[in-house]
Amino acid sequence: MSASIPVGIILAGGSGSRLYPMTAAFSKQLQPVYDKPMIYYPLSTLLMAGIREVLIISTPHDMPTFQRLLGNGSQWGISLSYAVQPEPKGIAQAFLVGEQFINGRPVCLILGDNLFYGKLDFLRAALTGPLSHATVFGYQVQDPERYGVVEMASDGSVISIEEKPQSPRSSMAIPGLYVYPPDVVDIARHLQPSDRGELEITDVHNVYLSQQRLNVIPIGRGIAWLDTGTPESLLEASTFIHAIEKRQGLKIACLEEVAWRMGFLTRDEFERAVAALPNGDYRRYAASLLTSRT
Ligand code: TTP
Repeated sequence: MSASIPVGIILAGGSGSRLYPMTAAFSKQLQPVYDKPMIYYPLSTLLMAGIREVLIISTPHDMPTFQRLLGNGSQWGISLSYAVQPEPKGIAQAFLVGEQFINGRPVCLILGDNLFYGKLDFLRAALTGPLSHATVFGYQVQDPERYGVVEMASDGSVISIEEKPQSPRSSMAIPGLYVYPPDVVDIARHLQPSDRGELEITDVHNVYLSQQRLNVIPIGRGIAWLDTGTPESLLEASTFIHAIEKRQGLKIACLEEVAWRMGFLTRDEFERAVAALPNGDYRRYAASLLTSRT
């Protein structure tokens, strides 16, 4: 597989305490967002950006369920592997858990509860740009205090990055989608846990910022970025997906379709993938593409 396109990691562990009791039996990223398991959405984002080699990091308890759900990825013409994060000790721990997988390559990390809808040119640009720098994105939100917040000067340079600040210096949150050079593993290795006992992704970004190797690309309001960590935001995400799918008659994050459109599957392989699906709306949709795909 191509050495120049970064590999992908989906971080799908965590405790999911805000979704309890839904998360008592299985993890947040396996919950439905309207008509698909949540992890389909971040996985489709990576695929649509051209990434074909993906590591899924989950809890020891949920790993077998993710494997049953997604397999080795060959049905979508991609390679999926799995690793366990024994305890949720921070987003930046993904680089230590995934060190062998990363194996000196650039990496795109997406959080398993982050959902993007819209044209992904901003991500493709970051993946094909000079990979000596880390790239994070900026997205205007009403409640920046819940996220990492970036303050930018009018010339586009970054002034500060703060994790969940009580008094945010801007309304630009950093979504859970990031692109790093291979040295992110070394940076993660030298981090100290924060007061809440986690390896903080914001600390990684501040290292890149201090080395003047941090790009922040603002993504405009034409992209929808949702996270799904609370019952209300989960419901809103489901309603959002339902509204668009109903209006267009097209599914969001149908992985067979994405793989075919991206050229990861030939038409024959796509046909075989559809034939393997159980009868139901998802299969009917995928099958209809064989005659209607534009
Ligand atoms: P959060 O939503 O911050 O945490 P959480 O999923 O544990 O949920 P809650 O706050 O309700 O307890 O995590 C964001 C994403 O990152 C989510 O997909 C889980 C993932 N994550 C891990 O996989 N490992 C970790 O150590 C952390 C902190 C998060």
